[in-house]
Amino acid sequence: MEPNQAQTGSPEPIEARIQTAAAFYRRPMLAAYDLFVLGMMSRLMWRCPRGRMLAHYSRQVSSSHLDIGPGTGWFINKCRFPSKAPSITLMDLNEVALATSAHRIRRYHPEALVGDAFKPFALGTAKFDSVGMNFLLHCLPGSMRQKSVVFDHVMPFLQPGARVFGSTVLGDGPHHTGRSAKLLAKLNRSGVFNNLDDRLEDLDEQLRARFTDVETARSGAVCLFAARFPGPR
Ligand SMILES: C[S@@+](CC[C@H](N)C(=O)[O-])C[C@H]1O[C@@H](n2cnc3c(N)ncnc32)[C@H](O)[C@@H]1O
Repeated sequence: MEPNQAQTGSPEPIEARIQTAAAFYRRPMLAAYDLFVLGMMSRLMWRCPRGRMLAHYSRQVSSSHLDIGPGTGWFINKCRFPSKAPSITLMDLNEVALATSAHRIRRYHPEALVGDAFKPFALGTAKFDSVGMNFLLHCLPGSMRQKSVVFDHVMPFLQPGARVFGSTVLGDGPHHTGRSAKLLAKLNRSGVFNNLDDRLEDLDEQLRARFTDVETARSGAVCLFAARFPGPR
């Protein structure tokens, strides 16, 4: 399902908003991303230091991992995999981000695939024990129910017991400071973020509708989440 224009409440057609959000990650942005977005904005604006998200990654990641929206690849490069030679597939709508992250973790010989979270994934018969989507959901247009279609697209590729996890900046609410609320509004106006209405409770509900062992925790204005695909570990 793709959210349509009326459902997002935005005058911009939905396909354009999907493309705008992904196209933002051009080379100069990617060059500044680790320091500026992960190092400074996550800590000072969203009040969730990247080390906290990295620890979350290392707890959830497996040796057979799919990463959706890897960006610069900072997390998959730094996280601790349970084995020395994990099998990693990267999927991103933005080819530059995909190439950047694949190059960064070339020591793991990753598979790289251009793909849109809103469309069924062309992953053939692949199966994964973990799927990461860090700072992806707040980019995706639509309501939490609409953007959760990414979980439906992931499901055919999960081994029983697989972990689905990530983090996302929440929409308007008391968890934002005056400064972070202003930045949030600006990022939504420019179409880099699409998350003004994103609520932790709604994400929790969407995860519970599909998975078990759902965990959602808030750090500042960020929700860290993890869930398990039903079946034996
Ligand atoms: C904010 S960056 C997050 C990068 C990285 N996961 C991190 O946490 O540092 C969002 C990433 O999601 C990708 N992206 C945005 N919209 C997407 C979509 N519809 N489908 C797949 N990837 C998308 C962007 O190209 C970018 O690489």
